[in-house]
Amino acid sequence: MISFEIITLFPKFFLSPLKESILRKAQEKGLIRVRVHNLRDYTKDKHHVTDDYPYGGGAGMVLKPEPVVEALEETRDCRSNSQSILLTPRGKCFSQNMAEQLTNYQQIIFVCGRYEGVDERIRTFVDREISIGDYILNGGESAALVIVETVSRLIHGVLGSHESISGESFTTGLLEYPQYTRPKSFRDYAVPDVLLSGNHEEIRRWRLREALKMTFLRRPDLFETKMLSDEEKKILNNIKQELSMLQDKKS
Ligand code: ADE
Repeated sequence: MISFEIITLFPKFFLSPLKESILRKAQEKGLIRVRVHNLRDYTKDKHHVTDDYPYGGGAGMVLKPEPVVEALEETRDCRSNSQSILLTPRGKCFSQNMAEQLTNYQQIIFVCGRYEGVDERIRTFVDREISIGDYILNGGESAALVIVETVSRLIHGVLGSHESISGESFTTGLLEYPQYTRPKSFRDYAVPDVLLSGNHEEIRRWRLREALKMTFLRRPDLFETKMLSDEEKKILNNIKQELSMLQDKKS
């Protein structure tokens, strides 16, 4: 079981996302535990102050170090293999690989940054800093949810067999092939014949080809890290030839 501990100024933010669907079932099955900690509860002053003006001046408030470090120290389970994460646009960009790595911890503690920033000294008290992308959120709360969800679904038993992750984009290193369901024809758009053929080998090859083509057209950068099998190399070369022939015809 992985325990996720979320340190935030906005605990209610997490109420409904954690009570729905797969994350709810994962908690009910005891495969994950998510605890949300109100940062205000770790303040020691009468007014429960969590932020303050920046030294040197400037706009906005800065998250104070004492409550954050107090919360980190109180939530960290010393007997577990624990990892603390500060969510910040300055962190290393989150990826499927990183999610896989995180499944090796028994406890993951998130510090959700807020306001215009956090006191720089907080960074020394966490194991790593993660960003979920090159854009600015209001705080780390949505980012923590993204990571909880991505890591949880990699844990054995969280997904049913029908929701298997084996063929998913980024697990295979390719974007996913197109999927269709009934009806066979929808507003003049038909389902590709091969999918109705019942020929499993032909369907496998068609799906692989479509996944390679989609990846080549939309995310060619994924090929920089993916090892291709001989079959995949052959199909990819064939796709490139086909596309360049199409280009030649157009010009
Ligand atoms: N806080 C604000 N923006 C963020 C981002 N992109 N990732 C993680 N935490 C953030």
